Amino acid sequence: MLENLDPLPADSILGVTAAFRRDASPDKVDLGVGVYRDIDGNTPVPSAVREAERVLLAEQVTKTYVGPAGNLDFNQRIVDLALGPLAARLRERTATIQTVGGCGALRLGAELLRAANPHAVVHVSTPTWANHEPLLGTSGLTLQRYPYYDPATRSLAEGPLLDAVGRLPSGSVVLLHGCCHNPTGVDLDPRHWTALADTIASRGLMPFVDLAYQGFGDDIEQDVVGLRILAERVPELLLAISCSKNFGLYRERTGALAVVGSSPQTAAAIATHQARIARRLYSMPPDHGAAVAARVLADPKLRADWMREVAEMVARMKSLRSLLADRLAALRPDLDFRWLTRQRGMFSLLGLDAARVTALREQHHIYLPQDGRVNIAGISDGNVDRVARAVAGLSG
Ligand code: LMR
Repeated sequence: MLENLDPLPADSILGVTAAFRRDASPDKVDLGVGVYRDIDGNTPVPSAVREAERVLLAEQVTKTYVGPAGNLDFNQRIVDLALGPLAARLRERTATIQTVGGCGALRLGAELLRAANPHAVVHVSTPTWANHEPLLGTSGLTLQRYPYYDPATRSLAEGPLLDAVGRLPSGSVVLLHGCCHNPTGVDLDPRHWTALADTIASRGLMPFVDLAYQGFGDDIEQDVVGLRILAERVPELLLAISCSKNFGLYRERTGALAVVGSSPQTAAAIATHQARIARRLYSMPPDHGAAVAARVLADPKLRADWMREVAEMVARMKSLRSLLADRLAALRPDLDFRWLTRQRGMFSLLGLDAARVTALREQHHIYLPQDGRVNIAGISDGNVDRVARAVAGLSG
């Protein structure tokens, strides 16, 4: 039976990592998968996370099952981090389940939406994270796209976006990036969030927010101003949270799906559906990462240390944006690269087509996904000149 299976093409992002690992060149540069890198090119475990792990290891006396909803303390604390004071106000209407990373939250959310309405259409931005469509579409929901990014100005396609969302039929699901839009780095400002929230509320749309980079745009609080504007104005909301980047917990697969319903009764029903979906897919989430994140958030010292470490990461990414923009501008005075410093988070689109991305890889050993997305955190003092020369040579 299994001989019927043909090999599949590599994943558009993880395949870049695999290709990079196969390259024997000492000069190779990985600007692919979205992982933070420090000045030495490492993806560190934040010291607050290491300390929380040490304490947990010493204290843990059992590894018995936790249950499909996972770590309830984590669930509450991570939603508090995202929604701030609003979380307490919405608590009775919110059902949260710990998930297998942010991907698990997105998929579980899609399954929940399908249980509520198998005909729901999910609208995603153009472009969006390469795994959004596979993750959400495999649940059986139909996917469509709305305009988001204007490649000519390298900024938000504000008019087309608001216009398109304003015409969606009632019951449509709108997937939004909470901050640090992947892959464009172009975020909504509070004015856009307010306009979208009003449209979503008045047209009866269902917002589904993917929050994978809280703290990587400006800071932990600033990055969720828009999300909170939305959450305050809409009766229902799905929120997929990832702790991969901001807690550095990538491989621990730590995340949550918070679903706000219109009443406490609805939230109670949602919780039963969440638990059943999890049970049928994988039973329960892994414990470790959530236990660590909960500990970091609960302990004032660890929390302060962690916030400082996130602030250091974002400061580094901002300085790398400036560094790359300056180098490119020096090499190509005919082109404007200031957009690199206006965009936020780990990613930007270099505006290179697939042939030029292939040329970067084959001629310069510089690896990025075919859409030309660059992981800014992969830039370093050691590689910036080479990256800038290669990109400048292929730009325009
Ligand atoms: C990315 O976009 O590179 C990250 O979110 C990692 C992933 O799973 O694709």
